[in-house]
Amino acid sequence: MADVKSEVSRKDEAFQKRLPKTEDLNAMTEASLKAAFAGESQAAEKYMVFAEQAEDEGLPNVAKLFRAISFAETRHARNHFRVTGGVGATADNLKAAFEGESFEIDEMYPAYQEIAKVQKNTQAGRSIKYALKAEMDHKWMYDDARRSVLEGKDVADRQVSVCLICGHTVIGDVPDKCPVCAAAKEYYKTF
Ligand code: FE2
Ligand code: FE2
Ligand code: FE2
Repeated sequence: MADVKSEVSRKDEAFQKRLPKTEDLNAMTEASLKAAFAGESQAAEKYMVFAEQAEDEGLPNVAKLFRAISFAETRHARNHFRVTGGVGATADNLKAAFEGESFEIDEMYPAYQEIAKVQKNTQAGRSIKYALKAEMDHKWMYDDARRSVLEGKDVADRQVSVCLICGHTVIGDVPDKCPVCAAAKEYYKTF
């Protein structure tokens, strides 16, 4: 979250000293922390959507409260994730990310898409289609990045943009129209 103001660097010793670290976990502790990671991650996203709703209702301070507490939940999620040993070296993280995207593309979303189709839930189908399309780009972006990192290089410094509606992700120039949801180019957020 780039808009959060803070004076300290994540690299500070005092900062690092206080962060929970990876350790050998007993089976039930590991299962608990993984469940907590999922729950905290979901709470964080839910609160961000609630913040948008509060904005729409003309309640900017309620929106701020939701955003701040969402940020707190991400701290909890990240701590849990770190302790479960989810973070490796970047080349390994890129491989894990690639595999996650591949699973969504090859198994998860196609199956979910069929369920939505059979049940004639068209909005669910739309939401699934948006995700599935974007994951296809994410997959090769992670794969390319991993190749670079394995050669000892960072990826090229190019802009990465994301459609605010469907999550379509593009490296380099933004298309005039989103190829997935047809939103205009103003609807992209650039990193
Ligand atoms: Fe929490
Ligand atoms: Fe993705
Ligand atoms: Fe889009």
